[in-house]
Amino acid sequence: MLQKENILIVDDDINILELLQRHLHSLDYHTYKAISVKEAVAILRDTEIDLLITDLKMPEVDGFQLIQFASEHYPNMPKLVVTGYPSIQDALSAIKSGAVDYLVKPFTKEELKQSVLKSLSTKKKRKTATETAETKKYNEIIGESEVIKNVTQIIDRVKDNKATIYISGESGTGKELVARSIHYNGKFSRAPFIAVNCGGIPENLLESELFGYIKGAFTGANDNREGFFQAAEGGTIFLDEIGNASLAVQSRLLRVLQEKEVVKVGARKSEKIDIRVIAATNSNLKEMIAKETFREDLFYRLTVVEIEVPPLRERKEDIPLLADKFLFKYGNEYKDRYITLDTEALALLQRYDWPGNIRELENVIQRAVIMCDRTIGVKDLPDTLKYQIDFPKDSLLSLKEMEKKYIEKVLAATNNNQTKAAEILKIDRKTLRGKTKE
Ligand SMILES: Nc1ncnc2c1ncn2[C@@H]1O[C@H](COP(=O)(O)OP(=O)(O)OP(=O)(O)O)[C@@H](O)[C@H]1O
Ligand SMILES: [Mg+2]
Repeated sequence: MLQKENILIVDDDINILELLQRHLHSLDYHTYKAISVKEAVAILRDTEIDLLITDLKMPEVDGFQLIQFASEHYPNMPKLVVTGYPSIQDALSAIKSGAVDYLVKPFTKEELKQSVLKSLSTKKKRKTATETAETKKYNEIIGESEVIKNVTQIIDRVKDNKATIYISGESGTGKELVARSIHYNGKFSRAPFIAVNCGGIPENLLESELFGYIKGAFTGANDNREGFFQAAEGGTIFLDEIGNASLAVQSRLLRVLQEKEVVKVGARKSEKIDIRVIAATNSNLKEMIAKETFREDLFYRLTVVEIEVPPLRERKEDIPLLADKFLFKYGNEYKDRYITLDTEALALLQRYDWPGNIRELENVIQRAVIMCDRTIGVKDLPDTLKYQIDFPKDSLLSLKEMEKKYIEKVLAATNNNQTKAAEILKIDRKTLRGKTKE
């Protein structure tokens, strides 16, 4: 079956958006709607869009800027302008900034159809020329904090060579995302990327899964089989949860890294391979080395390049950006529109410590989008966020300071409702008012 093409429509007029959507659905396209450029940009960032249809005159940021942005970042995506203010000047500027066609409101469904077909046909012609730009879009690591910029800089430096890479970081920080973006943004992106969860495969199978086996190597080995290493030839093998690999697997891995060859289980002969190894774990390998459950020599082979993915609490300035990404994603998925966060809810997200990192943030937003009406408020967020108090990690608090932190917490959780807060604290409102003044 033919896959439906994705069309992003951008207009500050909801009626036009809905009209376009109806027409495009009846022409069998899949649509995404955005009522502002900001929304459009977030959708582009997250979704493979085949055609952008945008209005020109919009409050805040106008359609020209969107076209320009899209031309820079998604040169292969055709852009079609639909506008209600027909002026030659606008039409010319739009085309100069990268739009391929121009449609004046009001338009008929037939006119729309012809313009869409024409625009989409330019994409097919240009596709092969700059395919790399399309894959780059995939696997985007979101964040503007210094710590995450550090990570993306390292990715840029290592993506085109085959040096072994070790990725460390807490659970849910984006280790796998980093591994994928190294592969897909690099020179070898057309070769396979194979992810193996060393903790998810039973120990006795891991060896033969990774390295393959020859006929008769063990009962049940009725044929010669290639392992993941050979399947990833020319590309990347991602060994996730490497700390869970047994000592037997570890010594085989060491050999692969040293000699660039694999020996199938049961075989004598080795076979050359050309592949990049990326390993990741959230367990502490240094501790495992001390306990002799992880080989020290393997550790040094793996950590030629080390990337430490920072926990979310060390880059809280990225929370609004990340939240935005998930708001668009789940808004589109569950509500068919853009869901926003109110300021108190956002403040709560920024105060929280995120032990589960980005995965936890994503889950919280997914759930809140489902629960909320149009805007996510504090009431749509789980209690764990409301009741966590950030204690300093390297000092102890006085009772007074501790009281202050707790009162702030309760006030935030009750949306600054003094009556409710006083009730929870079991003090009267006057006392509370006195304490907040202090
Ligand atoms: N910088 C980021 N920008 C956007 N999304 C991110 C980012 N980092 C992580 N994510 C998303 O968060 C989720 C968790 O990331 P990932 O699976 O890569 O984490 P992990 O470190 O491998 O976790 P674990 O240790 O539990 O395996 C994924 O859905 C991923 O797409
Ligand atoms: Mg992972």
